[in-house]
Amino acid sequence: MERSITAFSFALVAALASALVLMVQAQLNPGFISIDCGAPNSYTDYETNIDFSTDKGFIESGESMQISTKFIRQKFRQWLKNLRSFPSGMRNCYTLKPDKGKNNTYLIRASFWYADYDDKNRPPIFDLHIDVNHWDTVDSGNNYYEIVYVAQRDDIQVCLENIGQGVPFISALELRPLDNSIYHIESGFLTLWDRYDVGGPNSTIRYPDDVYDRIWKGWNSPFWLMLNPGTSASDLSNNNDEYKVPGEVLRTAQTASDSNTTLFYYILPDNVTSKWIWYFHFAETQILPSGQQRELTVTTSDGQFEETVGLEYLKPVTVVSTPVSGSQIKFSFKATTMQSGYPPPIINAFEIFQIKELLNAPTAQDDVKALTTTKAEYTVNKDSWQGDPCVPCEFAWDGLNCSYRNPPRVISLNISSSNLRGIISSSLSDLLELESLDLSNNQLTGAIPETLANLPKLRILNLSGNRLNGSVPEALKRRHEDKTLDLSLNNNPDLCQESPCSKTEAKNSILVPVVASVSVVFVVICVLSIGLIRRKRTLESSERTLGLKNRPFKYEEVSRITGNFGQVIGEGGFGKVYLGALDNGTVVAVKMLSETSKQGYKEFQAEARTLLIVHHRNLVSLFGYCNESRHMALIYEYMANGNLRQHLSGVFLCPVILFLL
Ligand SMILES: *[C@@H]1O[C@H](CO)[C@@H](O)[C@H](O)[C@H]1NC(C)=O
Ligand SMILES: *[C@@H]1O[C@H](CO)[C@@H](O)[C@H](O)[C@H]1NC(C)=O
Ligand SMILES: *[C@@H]1O[C@H](CO)[C@@H](O)[C@H](O)[C@H]1NC(C)=O
Ligand SMILES: *[C@@H]1O[C@H](CO)[C@@H](O)[C@H](O)[C@H]1NC(C)=O
Ligand SMILES: *[C@@H]1O[C@H](CO)[C@@H](O)[C@H](O)[C@H]1NC(C)=O
Ligand SMILES: *[C@@H]1O[C@H](CO)[C@@H](O)[C@H](O)[C@H]1NC(C)=O
Ligand SMILES: *[C@@H]1O[C@H](CO)[C@@H](O)[C@H](O)[C@H]1NC(C)=O
Ligand SMILES: *[C@@H]1O[C@H](CO)[C@@H](O)[C@H](O)[C@H]1NC(C)=O
Repeated sequence: MERSITAFSFALVAALASALVLMVQAQLNPGFISIDCGAPNSYTDYETNIDFSTDKGFIESGESMQISTKFIRQKFRQWLKNLRSFPSGMRNCYTLKPDKGKNNTYLIRASFWYADYDDKNRPPIFDLHIDVNHWDTVDSGNNYYEIVYVAQRDDIQVCLENIGQGVPFISALELRPLDNSIYHIESGFLTLWDRYDVGGPNSTIRYPDDVYDRIWKGWNSPFWLMLNPGTSASDLSNNNDEYKVPGEVLRTAQTASDSNTTLFYYILPDNVTSKWIWYFHFAETQILPSGQQRELTVTTSDGQFEETVGLEYLKPVTVVSTPVSGSQIKFSFKATTMQSGYPPPIINAFEIFQIKELLNAPTAQDDVKALTTTKAEYTVNKDSWQGDPCVPCEFAWDGLNCSYRNPPRVISLNISSSNLRGIISSSLSDLLELESLDLSNNQLTGAIPETLANLPKLRILNLSGNRLNGSVPEALKRRHEDKTLDLSLNNNPDLCQESPCSKTEAKNSILVPVVASVSVVFVVICVLSIGLIRRKRTLESSERTLGLKNRPFKYEEVSRITGNFGQVIGEGGFGKVYLGALDNGTVVAVKMLSETSKQGYKEFQAEARTLLIVHHRNLVSLFGYCNESRHMALIYEYMANGNLRQHLSGVFLCPVILFLL
């Protein structure tokens, strides 16, 4: 007792200690995924204290490269130095598995710094996809792209697609968990256009100042006035602002010369139908004369959006626009009271996002899971087996055909001649829409899983040219016979295709027919040479048994004929053998499969089947069997000489046969 308490408290201490370690880690980089693509080792970034890892485990393809030495400087962002390039494969994907999983909001940032790594002095142009949807086209050799994305699945895939304009590459990939209540939109995802710290320094602010690691660029309009930062960052940092804009960002701002002057900012989208959402962050940093409050109206010039906001000292507030569009999108900030003496408008920070629609739906999750498992089990080595299996259709996995309904499903899979080894993956039976499965000309071993017959739409199953063994599952045979399945099994030398399959049963059962026929010859010779001794009795015996052969027994009946399992006459691998008597007086041996003998079940069945097939009076007669859920029994003609196996091994000895006869 004392010992177990000690052990328990030890376990408790250990659990607490590990929880503590986890908490400390979590506080450092809470749920961050920071990948330095192509880097040889992981490290902690000296400026942000963010732990960068290598891309091992996130991607399986590509080549690790380093930028041209002429771009490497002394004090230098380490994650810009290495990159991963993708000379082969049309699509290459990183798989991110954020802790919080699906249906949570994440900031995802992909950075690209070409820096003439390939000595071609020509940055490539390629497409960036988030899961199955277009994110952006990377067309500058020095930029980062950022989105706010709600994970559709537990895994998020970032894919680079070769569009024939150079070899895609990537320098860094980062994921930051966000609060689900911010940057929330009805559908689609947000791609960052720009994020400004108005009146900020000529540099950027990010983690650890920004807990979400947004990158704020210091920016000043030459037409606006600088507002003297009246407060410190810490005055503004510990507030309940859900957007958690860093105090360092909020403390600087720009303003107008008087309350009659309007501030405005505009962008010129190249696509008039694209939709935009703006986030304006305000905070009053000035102590105004008593009775005064800065109140301003945020509007678009064409009336698509209008909202008035009153500012309170050191209380940040965020104004989120509705989705707006147009060839020019212009936002104005003006004081609500345009009178002298009233405070002019200010702006502390703002962000502009474009809304991207989720135009493509991913492949059904069960299919993805089944294929991913299959891929892992066989270590399938195909360039195209990355990203979503079916979507977009021009990048569908090699050997796959899909139906493009919602969601897309896998309808055929062809992995013939792909050097697959091992058993047939049971996860293939989870591809429920599968119509055709070709696994021919591999080196697959083991038995054919019966579950393949459960695929309701399977019409073609080609398993030829493998090293499968065992027997063909009955259900598949039946479907082949009623012509609903085109089944090819050629060139599997160890596969038994006959019915019943004698080859595959327990070792001795292969012997049975052979031994039976051999024994017949022996018996005939013996009997002839010695004379027809005890003939009458033998005939009687077989007559007696004739009408009784192979009938099912109820468990109750088994219990009755053995006198409630009163006399044990032997014990085998399956369980005990009991002595019993049928109603007509025939003495029988009842072999019970013990409930604990799971392993014996197959062999037991095999034995039953063999005996049902091989009827020869010189072999032991099976009178019947019992198969009631938990109770399995075989009822034999009683042989004083022990069990069938012993009997068969002794069959070649004439005297034994004679004795039995
Ligand atoms: C996803 O999360 C939102 C809130 O963030 C919730 O309203 C919605 O029901 C969730 N959906 C699923 C499928 O869990
Ligand atoms: C800001 O930085 C850029 C490049 O780093 C430089 O060209 C510019 O002169 C700087 N501006 C100020 C006001 O320091
Ligand atoms: C413009 O945007 C709309 C909606 O976002 C999109 O359907 C269309 O293809 C875009 N046009 C061009 C030329 O990019
Ligand atoms: C601002 O304009 C209003 C009328 O448009 C005027 O009455 C007021 O005097 C002006 N104030 C200043 C400070 O120019
Ligand atoms: C997919 O469909 C095309 C056209 O119907 C066919 O040629 C091809 O063999 C199919 N691929 C597989 C793997 O079944
Ligand atoms: C599978 O692909 C091989 C060639 O790669 C082809 O010969 C075979 O016909 C395909 N199987 C099916 C069922 O289409
Ligand atoms: C079939 O092959 C597997 C492995 O190749 C082996 O373990 C198994 O015993 C074989 N089964 C039969 C019935 O021969
Ligand atoms: C496998 O069998 C199917 C159906 O008989 C056939 O269409 C396919 O071409 C075969 N595959 C190979 C690689 O021969």
